[in-house]
Amino acid sequence: MTLWSGRFDDAPSDVLWRYTASQTDRRLLAVDIRGSIAHVGMLADVGLISADEHAAIDTALHQLAADAADDTFEFLETDEDVHSAVERRVIELVGDVGRKLHTGRSRNDQIALDIRLYLLETSAIRRRQLTEFAGTLVELAQANADVIVPSYTHLQQAQAIPLAHHLLAYAWMAVRDRSRFESLDERMAVSPIGASASGGSSLPIDPYITAQRLGFPVVFPNSLDAVGSRDLVAEYVFCCTQTMVDMSRLSEELVLWATSEFDWATFGDAVTTGSSALPQKKNPDIAELARGKTAGAIGSLTSIMALQKALPLAYNRDLQEDKEHVFSVDDALGGTLEAITAMLASASFHPPRPSSWTMALDFAEVLVGRGVPFRRAHEAVGRLVSRLLADGRTLDDVNPDDLSAADELFESGDVALTDASESIRRRMSSGGGSFESVAQQIEALQRLLS
Ligand code: ARG
Repeated sequence: MTLWSGRFDDAPSDVLWRYTASQTDRRLLAVDIRGSIAHVGMLADVGLISADEHAAIDTALHQLAADAADDTFEFLETDEDVHSAVERRVIELVGDVGRKLHTGRSRNDQIALDIRLYLLETSAIRRRQLTEFAGTLVELAQANADVIVPSYTHLQQAQAIPLAHHLLAYAWMAVRDRSRFESLDERMAVSPIGASASGGSSLPIDPYITAQRLGFPVVFPNSLDAVGSRDLVAEYVFCCTQTMVDMSRLSEELVLWATSEFDWATFGDAVTTGSSALPQKKNPDIAELARGKTAGAIGSLTSIMALQKALPLAYNRDLQEDKEHVFSVDDALGGTLEAITAMLASASFHPPRPSSWTMALDFAEVLVGRGVPFRRAHEAVGRLVSRLLADGRTLDDVNPDDLSAADELFESGDVALTDASESIRRRMSSGGGSFESVAQQIEALQRLLS
């Protein structure tokens, strides 16, 4: 029997049931029970049910919570959704008094509550995972303090930098990803229960009591908004998707670094895969799948935006479809953070020395230090580069004659400017790719992550 059979002469058809009943929301079981416990508590507080009735329903709900926790709660084909299943089971356990559970509420405010409770829980898990991910990057930065790589722009070698500086860039992104989840929590922790189906109730329900029982600091100011809006679900999907995009960028690099062409890093056997055909292969599948799963996340973000765009106030059944997107993107992120962190943690780095061309800016800046306008210094070094290229030489082969031909203010000792670690040591601008900046970043990140 459905929750709404009274008005209907005919039973629901199989086709209706197949199309409209939801199983996706079954993972909301625990939070649905939690919300129901708070709701019946409020009903007792305001005198809508007696203390005995409250005790009976509350005991049944706690029994359901235990079943949910050890995964023994049984859903039936005839349960239209998770809310129906919980109510059905409460009535089975306590009889008629269970029919008072749904007093003063609707599945519309119930689902709005469930999704908020659920996403507050997953947000805490994702934030913990991001902390762990960023912590792994900090550890790698410390363990590879002397390793030097080129920085890139346009995927062309730019300047020599500590590898740690490159790794920590991703740690900072993760810290921002984490803070996005954190600030969303504040908006998420507004209780929608008590909005009822759309316009509230004539019964003396008290949304403040239910909110307080649930630990929500704020209560909805408008019942239509409370049941009809999914902007926060969309925002959660965005938080996940942006994090996935950041993971995908890193993954692209991990794949590049593992190539024999780049050869920056080797990843552990336990976190790479082999080929069924090519015996020599060791494939960075985790990183490739992270890139691939990001495509799905972007799809979900687009879907959740489209889902909202033409909905008249307030609740519409379209909104049932938000679950599929938010669950799949959140699952993808959870799995990705776990796998990428493990893959990264196994990395051993052995990048080749950056090309000597990455020291070209050092040559220009030494002239600037001697009073040459930067544009003139840039041209002088440009001439030097072109002369060396014409001879099939690199900056490593530069000699004092090349230098004086480029600009009279070059000194013969400037040939030593091609040392990559010296180049990094000369760098002094704040937040730049220097060893001091890396040390400062590690300290700041350790504070943020502890
Ligand atoms: N399964 C619905 C959802 O996910 C719950 C609310 C259903 N409300 C209703 N009147 N059918 O949005």
